[in-house]
Amino acid sequence: VTDAPVATTQRVIKMASHPSGALEDDDFELVDAPVPEPADGEALVRTLYLSLDPAIRVWMNGIDTYVPGIHVGDVMRAGGLGEVVQSRNAAYTEGDLVFGMMQWSEYCIARAGPDGMMTLPRQEPITAFLSVLGVTGLTAYFGMFDVAQPKEGETVVVSGAAGAVGSVAGQIGKIIGCRVVGIAGGPEKCAWITDELGFDAWIDYKSENVAARLRETCPDGIDVFFDNVGGEILDAVLGQINLHARIALCGAISQYDTAELSPGPRNFINLIPQRGRVEGFILLDYRDRFVDAILQLGQWVQEGRIRYAEDIVDGLENAPAAFRRLFTGENTGKLIVKVAE
Ligand SMILES: NC(=O)c1ccc[n+]([C@@H]2O[C@H](COP(=O)([O-])OP(=O)(O)OC[C@H]3O[C@@H](n4cnc5c(N)ncnc54)[C@H](OP(=O)(O)O)[C@@H]3O)[C@@H](O)[C@H]2O)c1
Repeated sequence: VTDAPVATTQRVIKMASHPSGALEDDDFELVDAPVPEPADGEALVRTLYLSLDPAIRVWMNGIDTYVPGIHVGDVMRAGGLGEVVQSRNAAYTEGDLVFGMMQWSEYCIARAGPDGMMTLPRQEPITAFLSVLGVTGLTAYFGMFDVAQPKEGETVVVSGAAGAVGSVAGQIGKIIGCRVVGIAGGPEKCAWITDELGFDAWIDYKSENVAARLRETCPDGIDVFFDNVGGEILDAVLGQINLHARIALCGAISQYDTAELSPGPRNFINLIPQRGRVEGFILLDYRDRFVDAILQLGQWVQEGRIRYAEDIVDGLENAPAAFRRLFTGENTGKLIVKVAE
């Protein structure tokens, strides 16, 4: 048991209203709140970095899915990295670096048991545990190896290709020996994925006709689609899939921040003659294998075979504005908020 002195009040960001459509400033509220007291079996954690993931926008609809929905008045949630500052649990020691589900707040509680936080080595840069060695890198890893299962020589298309998940998914495709085509928004992101990350071709969905460019860049058709976006881009890809194509539904960001979902893809029917498979997945289902995947991703990063980008915004108070950038494409790489040193 440690009892280092900490502040008694902290800043937290609450959800002030359920957004309908695009996020607004007044969907969030920055307020002062007491620092929680850890009970027996718990620890108090100072938040260092928060991972802003597109899925949080879906949680804000207030509907329980694989995690509980966020309701008006709740403190916003996010995965994060923190430092243990007080402990009433032998599993946590003051000074430990921990990862887990945290809040948009300066302090939070680490529980005991299966809902507890994971203690991590202090390996620099620690933000990699939120990006390439964290949720986004792991999502790319399991989505590719377990769900999409591309084979050497196949053609893989990735949407959201310059994003945190998509950029790693595409590079894994290259490691496997595939032709990889990335769909991203704008010339800079498109140049980055081909010139820096080694994708074979890009499609700028903001200025080009995606179906026409898929025909040009995938002359042998599409064997695997790793989809982060959904909507019209998914529809365009479905129209050009090969026999036994595999479509890994990782995310559908084009649908998260709109008041009304777009109608289902017209080319869905193409899955029948092509005997295609569409499979959604959630990273949490693979938690038993995280350690092996982190070691493999870390090795590829060290060897220079996987490169990654992080977009770190300073200050808890800037989290709402930063979060909105995910839906306009203004983030470049894994979006992280730095809350404390
Ligand atoms: N299944 C899982 O367990 C799991 C886990 C983590 C993440 N995900 C999903 O993975 C996807 C990527 O997440 P991330 O954290 O790596 O974010 P990210 O790709 O780094 O950032 C989001 C990107 O999405 C693109 N985007 C936004 N609105 C769009 C639209 N209407 N149409 C097309 N593209 C749009 C933007 O890039 P452009 O500039 O290219 O438009 C933006 O930069 C999300 O769908 C997320 O929900 C799933």
